[in-house]
This record gives sequence, C-alpha cells and structure tokens, in this order.
Amino acid sequence: MSITIGTPLQTSAFKVLLLGSGELGKEVVISLQRLGVEVHAADRYDHAPAMQVAHYSYTLNMAEPVELKKLIENIKPNLIVPEIEAIATQVLVEIEEQNIATVIPSAKAVNLTMNRQGIRKLAAEELGLPTSAYRFADTLESFRAACDDIGYPNFVKPVMSSSGKGQSRVKEFSEVDAAWEYAQTGGRVNQGTVIVESQIDFDFEITLLTVRAKNPTTGEIETHFCDPIGHRQDSGDYVESWQPQAMTPAALEEAQRIAHKVTVALGGCGIFGVELFVKADKVWFSEVSPRPHDTGLVTLASQFQSEFELHARAILGLQVNTQRHSVAASAVIYAGVDDTNLSFSGLELALENPNTDLRLFGKPEGFVRRRMGVATARAETTDQAREWAFEAASKVRVQQNNR
Ligand SMILES: Nc1ncnc2c1ncn2[C@@H]1O[C@H](COP(=O)(O)OP(=O)(O)O)[C@@H](O)[C@H]1O
Ligand SMILES: [Mg+2]
Repeated sequence: MSITIGTPLQTSAFKVLLLGSGELGKEVVISLQRLGVEVHAADRYDHAPAMQVAHYSYTLNMAEPVELKKLIENIKPNLIVPEIEAIATQVLVEIEEQNIATVIPSAKAVNLTMNRQGIRKLAAEELGLPTSAYRFADTLESFRAACDDIGYPNFVKPVMSSSGKGQSRVKEFSEVDAAWEYAQTGGRVNQGTVIVESQIDFDFEITLLTVRAKNPTTGEIETHFCDPIGHRQDSGDYVESWQPQAMTPAALEEAQRIAHKVTVALGGCGIFGVELFVKADKVWFSEVSPRPHDTGLVTLASQFQSEFELHARAILGLQVNTQRHSVAASAVIYAGVDDTNLSFSGLELALENPNTDLRLFGKPEGFVRRRMGVATARAETTDQAREWAFEAASKVRVQQNNR
C-alpha cells in the first residue's frame, strides 16, 4: 500500500502525533513538515522545542492513561510517534489493537524498551545476544545480594529511567546502600526495580543507527545501517559524538548482526538507536531506543538524510538512503545555569569556521546540565571534526536575563 499525503489543516491531512517534544522531536517535525504532514506535538510542559515547529501542541501528562487516550481520540492521528519513554504504553497497545492509529515503530517495541527489564530479557534471554551479566532487584536486601553476585565495579540503573538519572557505578560493597537510595529517587517511579550490570571493559562504545523501511517495489521491510557513531558519555549523558567510528570488519559485522536481530524482534518501521560496546572484534548489546538517538545529531552534518529525515521517511513508508557524505562530529551546548529566558551569544565566533553548524533548541528553561543546543563540524578526520565541534560549542555563551 502506497501512502497518500493530504493537505495540512484540511480534511485530507495526514496527521502525525508526536508524544514527547524535545530537540530530537523538533528535527523529526521539521522533516515531516517538509513532506506536507500535519504535525501535532505533545509534552508535559509548554513551548517544548518540537511544539514550536508543529501545527498544534498539547501540554499534558502522557503517563496518565485517561488523558493520553482522550488526546489520541480527539486528534485521530494516522501515526503516533513516541519520542520519550514516560508514556502510558498500555494505551498505545490498545490503540494499535483497535486499529485507531499506527504506533511507531510498534506498540510492542515502545512497551519493551520503556523498561530495561523488558528489553534486556528480550535481548539476552530470548535472542541470545551478548550483554553484560545482570540481575534485577526490588528490595535493598536483594539489591545487596545482586551487587555481590555481579561483583565490582558494577552499574546500577533504575529500570524505568533514562539519560543517566538515578544511575551509579558502584566500586565496592560500602557504596551499595547509597547507590540504592540514589536509584530510588532518580527513576520515573519511586520504589522501583533496578538492574545491576557487570562493567564491560570496552575500547569504545557506538550507536548503530538502524532503519527498518519498506521497499516500495516488494512491500517488504528491509534493514539499513548508518555508519557507526562513536560517542563519549559523562554521568550517563552524551557529551560528544562522531561518525564514522573506526572498527574492525569483524566487529562491524557482529554489530550489524546484533542490531538486525533486536530490531527485527521489535518490529515496525522507523529508526532505532542500537547502543553497543566494542572491544577489538567483540561486541556487546547495551540498549536500544526505537526512535532517533541523541548521539545521532551528528548525522545532521554527515549524512545525505539525517537520522530525523530517515525516521520521517521510514514511518511514512518511503525509501531511505543511509549514505554518509562527510566525516563529522557533534558537541553539546549546556545551559550552565538554572534559569528561564536565556540568551545565546558568540554565535558568529562559533560559526567562523565554515565547516561548523549550530542548532539551538529553544528550550524555555535551562538547568546547569541541560542540553540547550549542539554544534556540529565536518572535517577530513574524526579527530579534527571533534576538535572543531568542541570549539564551536564552547564559543556559544549562555546569558541570563532575569537578574
Ligand atoms: N555495563 C556497563 N559497562 C560499562 N559501561 C556502562 C555499562 N552500562 C552503562 N555504561 C555506561 O553508561 C552509559 C549510560 O548507560 P545506558 O544504559 O546507556 O543508560 P541510558 O539509558 O541513561 O542512556 C553508557 O553509554 C556507558 O558509557
Ligand atoms: Mg544509553
């Protein structure tokens, strides 16, 4: 079945509802707008980045099933595109079952990946993919036992959390109780279950952007891979990324095998950010998100179709091209302060190098460690691109206006 796109704001409109309206969603909306899609953006706060470029926006608690159901029934979107994990996913399962809208990539994928327990069990136990050793715990007592069982250092993460929230690296038994306390306050739900993972001693970590898209001739869903993206994390949050990350042919093949297996199991069409740890030829699966990935912001500078355009095309049932045209890097711009109404200057200095570019997300409120923008740079080598992206990011100055 081929797709027909109507006219936005008229009865023929092809409607997409974005659940979560952050900076990644903003770029997805821009890509959809370019294809004439009518976009509805929702988030829990007003004036979120993607809302600023959508046709309509809604502020609500998307983890609240009744509110979410009502919103979907009012809009009657063709597609529902989750951008965050804190969503009442059981509503999406019902919506899919009742054929009210298509959930991207699938209700199953959204449901499994919102919880580390679901995706880890699928990857390690059902699919047999290599992962770190792990245990789950839901009481302090079972947590202490799990830590001793896994050994030290280990990584502790609330199963319902993202972006490093509530996560810690536990170096010895004396740190166990503090890690438990921290996990209980950092997750999306209090008193939640945590995963304890053995530390993988990797050479580097990558995001393998994997696109499942329909071949218009055969109607079959095919898998496409972007070149691997290398990245550096600080306290569980991405600081810089680059593409391509050099790796051995054997490791690349294994990375693609793992990514193929896990994305086929999750199903549907769209882009997936598959996170992998690599040591020489060996690869471990870490986690996967069924949507554009923050480290993939680099593809704005490196690929003919960025991860956002790839997602937009794939979810509309159109063909994709994952080819890279440049070596590039991205570096994050933080607010550095807790305040609203911020200003950004030094932009002309950041862009002095013609190989650089900027995205400012327009977030209404900054926090010290909140990502407010990103700088990208193209170069001959990833080292040079990283240096230029970092330089550009550091030339952007964030100023307060409220004092
Ligand atoms: N088992 C592990 N071994 C080594 N490093 C890890 C492990 N788990 C997490 N990390 C580090 O912490 C980062 C964040 O962990 P991740 O599971 O991706 O959480 P999030 O969902 O918040 O992104 C990883 O990108 C990696 O750098
Ligand atoms: Mg991660």
